[in-house]
Amino acid sequence: MDCDIKDIKQADSGKLRIDWAERNMPVLRLIRERFRKQKPLTGVRVGCCLHVTTETANLMETLKAGGAEVRLCASNPLSTQDDVAASLVKHTKIGVFAIRGENNKTYYQHIAAVLANDPQITMDDGADLVSALHTNGDSANVWAGLEETTTGVIRLRAMAKDGVLKFPVIAINDSETKHFFDNRYGTGQSTLDGILRATNHLLAGSKVVVIGYGWCGRGVAIRAKGMGADVIVCEVEPVKALEAVMDGYRVMPLAQAAREGDVFITLTGDIAVIRAEHFARMKDGAVVANSGHFNVEIDIEALEKMSVKKRVIRHEVEEYTLKGGKRINLLGEGRLINLAAAEGHPAMVMDMSFANQALGVEHIVKNRGKLSLGVHAMPVKIDKEIARLKLLSMGVKIDRLTPEQKKYLAEWKMGT
Ligand code: ADE
Repeated sequence: MDCDIKDIKQADSGKLRIDWAERNMPVLRLIRERFRKQKPLTGVRVGCCLHVTTETANLMETLKAGGAEVRLCASNPLSTQDDVAASLVKHTKIGVFAIRGENNKTYYQHIAAVLANDPQITMDDGADLVSALHTNGDSANVWAGLEETTTGVIRLRAMAKDGVLKFPVIAINDSETKHFFDNRYGTGQSTLDGILRATNHLLAGSKVVVIGYGWCGRGVAIRAKGMGADVIVCEVEPVKALEAVMDGYRVMPLAQAAREGDVFITLTGDIAVIRAEHFARMKDGAVVANSGHFNVEIDIEALEKMSVKKRVIRHEVEEYTLKGGKRINLLGEGRLINLAAAEGHPAMVMDMSFANQALGVEHIVKNRGKLSLGVHAMPVKIDKEIARLKLLSMGVKIDRLTPEQKKYLAEWKMGT
C-alpha cells in the first residue's frame, strides 16, 4: 500500500486488531513505554521487511515510539494483512509497501522502496532486504541488520562464510526466547490453524506427515499428536530423526510416508522436498502444505506437469487432478500456510520475538561501529531479561540460587 489510504474502514478494523494483539504483547509494551520516554532511536532510519501482521504493527509502533524513522515492506507476497497495512499508514504514519497477493515484480519494487529511504538498520524475515542490498543496492550507510528467521540466518551465514557479507547482522532467531517459543509453539499452533482454516479437516484419526524435525517441525508434530493425529516424521539428520523416534513418532523416508499420509507439511528450509515421485504415491485427496519460509519445498512445477486439471476448490485450496483421476490438494500456493491461510503466530509468542527485535535495534544503536562483521547472537543478558519479563507478565515466580549453590557451581576441586 503505497502510503495511500484507499479504504478508511479497512484501516480502522486493522487498528482494532492491532490493539487486540497489543493486549497480549506485555513485554513489547514495556519496551515501548521506555522507548517513548527515553527516545533511544531518535532519527535512526530502520528499513523493515517482515510479514505485515498485527504483531508486526506493534513492533513498528514501538520503533516509532523510540524515535526511529521506519519503512516496512512484506517478507512474503501472501502474508500481508491489508487492513494492518492501511492502519499503519493512517494511524501511525509509517510508510508501508505491501499488498496481499502482490506479484513478484511488485514484491521487489516494494523492497526497493524501503531501501530507497537509505536505512541505517535493516530488519529482515528471510534476508531479502540484505540480499537486495548486496546484489544491486548501496550498503555504505548500513550500520547493521537484524534477522528474524532460521532460513534468513542460514542465508546470512552462507554470505559470511563466502566473505561477501558487508555489515554485521544480529540473528534474532538464535535467541532462546525466540526459537524455543516462536518456532516451536508459534509454528506448531499457527501451521495447524492455517491448514484447518483452509480445509476444515479433522486431525483426530488422520495421518499427518511432518517433514523436517527442527524446532518448527517438533512444534507441529506435538500439536498434531495432541489433536489425535497419527504423526509420521521424515528427517534427513540422524540425531533429529532419533529424537523423533524417542518422542514417540513413526519415522520413515518420505517415499514410504507418501503412501500413508492424509496431510503433508514441509518445514525443512530446503528445496524440492515433496517431488513427483511422492505425488505419484499419494492417496486420492491428500492435502499438501508448506510451513517453511520460501515456496520452494513443494515441487509445484512437477505437480502441474503431472496434472490434467486444476481448480480452486476453497479459499487457499487448489485441487490438482492427476492422470488417472487422483486428486491432490495444494494449500496456500505452497507458501507459508500459517500466514497465507491464518494470521501467523499468536501475539503471545511474537511478544518475545519482537521484544528481541526492538532491543536488538537499540543494541545496534548503542554499539554503532563496534560490532564486527559477521552474524551475531543477541547478548545472553538481554535474552534472559526478555524471559524474566515474560514470566513476570504471566504472574509466574521462580526460585533463585542461594549464595551456597552459586559458590558450589563455581567450584571445580574435589571435596571443596
Ligand atoms: N511470523 C510468524 N508469525 C508472525 C506474525 N504473527 N507476525 C509477524 N511475523 C510472523
